[in-house]
Amino acid sequence: MKPVILDVDTGLDDACALLLAARHPELDLKAVTCAGGNVGLDDVVRNTLTVLDAAGRPDVPVARGAAVPLLQPVRMARHVHGADGLGDIDWPRSTRTTDRRHAVELLRDVLREAAATGELITLIPLAPLTNIALLLRTYPDAAAGLREIVFMGGAARIGNATASAEFNIWTDPEAAAIVLTAAGELGVPTTMYGLDVFYDVVVTLEQARGLSGSPSAELARKLIEKRSSLYQSDGASIGDGGAVCAVIDPSGLTTQPFPVRIELSGSWSRGRTIVDTRDWSADLTSDPHGLSPTKVQVATAVDGKRYAELWLATVS
Ligand code: RIB
Ligand code: CA
Repeated sequence: MKPVILDVDTGLDDACALLLAARHPELDLKAVTCAGGNVGLDDVVRNTLTVLDAAGRPDVPVARGAAVPLLQPVRMARHVHGADGLGDIDWPRSTRTTDRRHAVELLRDVLREAAATGELITLIPLAPLTNIALLLRTYPDAAAGLREIVFMGGAARIGNATASAEFNIWTDPEAAAIVLTAAGELGVPTTMYGLDVFYDVVVTLEQARGLSGSPSAELARKLIEKRSSLYQSDGASIGDGGAVCAVIDPSGLTTQPFPVRIELSGSWSRGRTIVDTRDWSADLTSDPHGLSPTKVQVATAVDGKRYAELWLATVS
């Protein structure tokens, strides 16, 4: 089994990712940490516990993390995820409590143990990268427990929160810059599952209507129905769930190694992931910036049908 940790801002599509990670037989979900993002931290935590209950995984430790970004004011996406972040669907909310540790401490402890045992962990951040930045700067030794980071965020070509920037990176650009820099310095292989592929793993309403017979399947159906109605479409992307698919089945994702930087200023482009797709063997001496020292495996294409089937088979 592959040990994983999810860092989430649950969120309808984080919920799709949690159901998959909690139920897939090849993943060992060691912990889930929460950050404010799509909705406020209290809602994120309650939604996360609720989804894990539905998945039949009350054993997975869940920790509260950063409520707000490192520097800028909090921004949310209730217009996408509903007032409560879980689409305001009719579903019993969890009463379970969280781990007593802060998310950064839970991450530190699980990763240090992984480093000691050699069972290295794949970290899957699906939220603003606030918790992960705090972790890597406060306890850099914990990176020895990481096999890799596969994060949902950014894009080479498009934005959603703004024309330039994807929501997770736009919400906390400083954190994203710290994570990419620290991952480079600490030698942690990093994959960016961004908007270039995010929308391509689609579950149709017809497929979703076949989901029944267990709390996990029922919740999965409601999530797809809600996302479909929000986008007025006959199906919906599983969003963050695709990043978990990429960990389970990496050959369904095409990636290319590119230098990446985070835009921290810019009138219209703050929070953009600047993916350097130039021919680096050309003469770059006139470029005052030079190449970013951090290379990231950037997702450029995905086998959406295969990942949608993987998700459907697992959540049901
Ligand atoms: O921008 C994509 C983001 O939208 C992801 O983090 C996902 O959680 C959704 O909220
Ligand atoms: Ca998310």
